[in-house]
Amino acid sequence: MTEVHIIGAGETKFGELWDRSLRELAVEAGLRAIEDAGIYSRDIGILYGSNTLAGSLNWQNDIGSLLADFSGIASAGIPAIRVESSTSSGASAIREAYLAIRSGEYDVAMVGGVEKMTDIYGSEILDVVSTTLDREWESFFGGTAAAMAAITARKYMHDFNVEKEALAAFSVNDHANASKNPNAHYRSKITLETAMKSTKVAEPLNIMDCSPVSDGGAALILASDKFAKSVGKEGVVIKSSAISQDYLALHSRDSLYTINSTVRAGRTAFEKAGIKKSDISFMELHNSYSIYGLLEIEDLGFAEKGKASDFVMDDISLTSPLPINPSGGLKAKGNPMGATGVGQAVEAYLQMKGKAKERQIKEPKYGLIHSISGTGSTSVVHIIGGE
Ligand code: COA
Repeated sequence: MTEVHIIGAGETKFGELWDRSLRELAVEAGLRAIEDAGIYSRDIGILYGSNTLAGSLNWQNDIGSLLADFSGIASAGIPAIRVESSTSSGASAIREAYLAIRSGEYDVAMVGGVEKMTDIYGSEILDVVSTTLDREWESFFGGTAAAMAAITARKYMHDFNVEKEALAAFSVNDHANASKNPNAHYRSKITLETAMKSTKVAEPLNIMDCSPVSDGGAALILASDKFAKSVGKEGVVIKSSAISQDYLALHSRDSLYTINSTVRAGRTAFEKAGIKKSDISFMELHNSYSIYGLLEIEDLGFAEKGKASDFVMDDISLTSPLPINPSGGLKAKGNPMGATGVGQAVEAYLQMKGKAKERQIKEPKYGLIHSISGTGSTSVVHIIGGE
């Protein structure tokens, strides 16, 4: 089977982009990726469009066709399919593209993630985001994404005697890295004190524990060995791709603070890549809420359960032994849900290519990209780098 190479990446700025439409964001990111890859759009065999909420937020479904149409590939008959798995949609779409190339069916696949979240008034966005939870058991009774994360955070902090500082420190690191990322939603640095004292959202979480409501687009071009060679493109290899599932409703899970889908996807990703944890040079983790960043460090095997706070308080900055979220993470780079996972991969690609400028990590060997849907029902892990 062929290896799969990321040969191009592009993204828009993430943020409140009032003057940009859903389709414009998607196409801008896509064109940047095509330009970066140095290919023609006719080279693309299939397009996977990743989007979570456009049906409710923008009254637009069939995002695959929309992207194909507006980017001009529809007339060439290139198939375009939407992939949706809540906030892990982008990572799931990358995996589908990876499998399409591994199978030998296609030589080039494009992944385009997009979300336009700010075209909706006031708190309605919370209702729409809550549709990614279990409707009958959670959101119907008032459960929101923030409330579910807060339940997990409260139990975790109680059971392991973890102080709120560790959650805040995760966000402080994200903001420090985002200050070096021109595409980030929030580019302001914050202090631990600001993070601790910011407005409460769902105790113990406050606004600096929450990813923002963002607009944005991100895209990747994936290619087979044969194609990458034919265009003389040295990409970044996707060493492994893994996905796993757990129950949708939080109450059905074995534990409130072990994300089983992450444990399984992480284990499989390392097995398939045939590398050790110590080979990883940086991680892009999915901190839609700060608590998830800590749980993921543990569930991916980088700290014992309950001990991620030591890991985070120690050092996760760009110059630490294992930098986390060089992009600024979901907290500060932003979380335009359908684009988020693709954006994480764009950052990992830039880091591996040595193109991350001010936030470049020194000589990365392998990067780990991790996404969860909602509260963690689906987890997707990609390891990139190496030969
Ligand atoms: N971090 C930092 N600042 C934030 C922020 C965040 N997460 N969210 C909003 N702000 C800032 C805004 O920029 C604005 O600043 P300004 O007054 O200087 O312009 C201010 O806070 C008020 O913004 P507003 O949009 O009115 O905030 P809000 O109170 O309506 O929303 C949250 C705040 C935390 C509720 C909202 O960001 C949210 O719901 N986040 C979670 C999204 C989510 O669940 N995503 C999916 C996860 S699966």
